[in-house]
Amino acid sequence: MVRSFLKDTDFTPLEAAEIFELAARYKATRSAGIIDVLNSQSWGVLFYKKSTRTRLSFEAGLYELGGHPMVMYADDLQISRGETIEDTARIMGRFLHGLVIRTFGQDIVEKFAKYSGIPVVNALTDLLHPCQSYTDMFTMTEFFSQGKANPESIKGKKFVFYGDTACNMAYSLALAGAMFGVEVVLCGPEEFRPAPILDELFSEVNLTPTWSFTSDPIEAARGANVLYTDVWVSMGKEEEKAQRIKTMSPYQVNMDLFKVADRGAYFMHCLPAHAGEEVSQEVLDSPRSIVFDQAENRLHVQKAIVSYLVKKNRQLGK
Ligand code: CP
Ligand code: NVA
Repeated sequence: MVRSFLKDTDFTPLEAAEIFELAARYKATRSAGIIDVLNSQSWGVLFYKKSTRTRLSFEAGLYELGGHPMVMYADDLQISRGETIEDTARIMGRFLHGLVIRTFGQDIVEKFAKYSGIPVVNALTDLLHPCQSYTDMFTMTEFFSQGKANPESIKGKKFVFYGDTACNMAYSLALAGAMFGVEVVLCGPEEFRPAPILDELFSEVNLTPTWSFTSDPIEAARGANVLYTDVWVSMGKEEEKAQRIKTMSPYQVNMDLFKVADRGAYFMHCLPAHAGEEVSQEVLDSPRSIVFDQAENRLHVQKAIVSYLVKKNRQLGK
């Protein structure tokens, strides 16, 4: 079976650490130009949902690895007129060497992986966003080890995620956090607490959970090393917007939370941000905010993920 990256736990913690090492190398040497890992391979980048960072970072990253990125929107493909995912995947497998997908259900990326026979990278589903969570852990390693990207440096750090704790980011961060020994506190309203699926994701793999849930925002922030948030209205949830904003407003990341957090605490956000909702403008603009370094790291980490997959699949004879 060709190896893909559909869930955070598709790499072992040791493999993820190797990916971080590679990402740090790619970051340090980017200005040297193309590193020909892909040998002119064509990789599809397929979107069922909107994107800015993922679109830019994968298109640039695949090019910088010596590949040919082909960005596609599901609305432009025959899939929007009823062609099945199975057939679309089989066709893609005939033309492409790899595929990056942003879509709705996790079952869709799984089907593409099953029927295409090529490596598939999950670039966000309703369930998970593993490219982002790996980038976030990598970014933390940089900031907690003075630019050295040492995974040991984040072990035991207190990381608090605020808002919709039943969303893709919350789940991916709980999984990736456990892989690196980070204490992940998910903090939000009771009605948005993690669903049983998060326990199921852990039970599929040999990984001890390090996450907990609380609805008390100040208690959660006490002594925290990272305060993190994501939009309150994820893509596909637009109809619930008014209700979500009302319910989640006590969970805005603002200076009150930074007052009780560790003095060296950082603010992180996967972006796009809605200042005044999930984060105050003051926090977003403060020196504690590392959101743009975080965003840039998508490029380096994803290049490392793709090239690691290609290397592993070559070793498997795929
Ligand atoms: N964080 C993230 O995935 O951003 P985009 O939705 O812009 O790709
Ligand atoms: N939870 C957000 C993440 C965006 C990168 C969403 O799914 O829209």
